[in-house]
Amino acid sequence: LQKETARGRAPGAAEISRREALQLVAGAIAISGSGTSVTAATAQDGPCPGDRLVLADADDGVVVPLRIEDIKAASNAVIAYPYDVATKTIRSDSRLNKVLLVYVDPQTLDAETKQRSAGGVLAYSAICTHQGCVISEWKADERSFLCFCHFSKFAPLEDGKVLAGPAPSNLPYLSVTAEDGVLIATSPFSATPGPRRPS
Ligand code: FES
Repeated sequence: LQKETARGRAPGAAEISRREALQLVAGAIAISGSGTSVTAATAQDGPCPGDRLVLADADDGVVVPLRIEDIKAASNAVIAYPYDVATKTIRSDSRLNKVLLVYVDPQTLDAETKQRSAGGVLAYSAICTHQGCVISEWKADERSFLCFCHFSKFAPLEDGKVLAGPAPSNLPYLSVTAEDGVLIATSPFSATPGPRRPS
């Protein structure tokens, strides 16, 4: 296992346990260029095509390119940051870059949603469109994301539609694919992430 040091990551951002994180680390593929420090990210709002997705609160600063099975095995939604492979940079200067990942049975997805998912993994902005809290909860029984700040709910199987609460607009989604199981962004977010002004 090869490691790189992450700068600028957000402690406590991901909703997976230390044990789960360590399990992910154990199964992670190595990123080329071992031993190279990750350079400070340039602030931008969201991932770029080709970015890998890495744990937002990886233990010991280890960069872990997330895989489909990591998300499938997690007990909750997983919060990640985009990772620029070319510059070995975690795009963590802006919290608006956070990505919320969840696994659902791909058989339950409509054709359009399936096309922008990877083996059942759906990716969304992790920033609530109400007042910008980080969304961290997957309600498996309702198949919805829950924002604990004011209890807005979003439906990742319906383009991030608002199901409840004061959020004024859908959660932007991110199209993803996978190579050898490793998740890769194929687009920017579908809309600018972050809070919206009420219309
Ligand atoms: S910030 Fe999410 S519901 Fe208010």
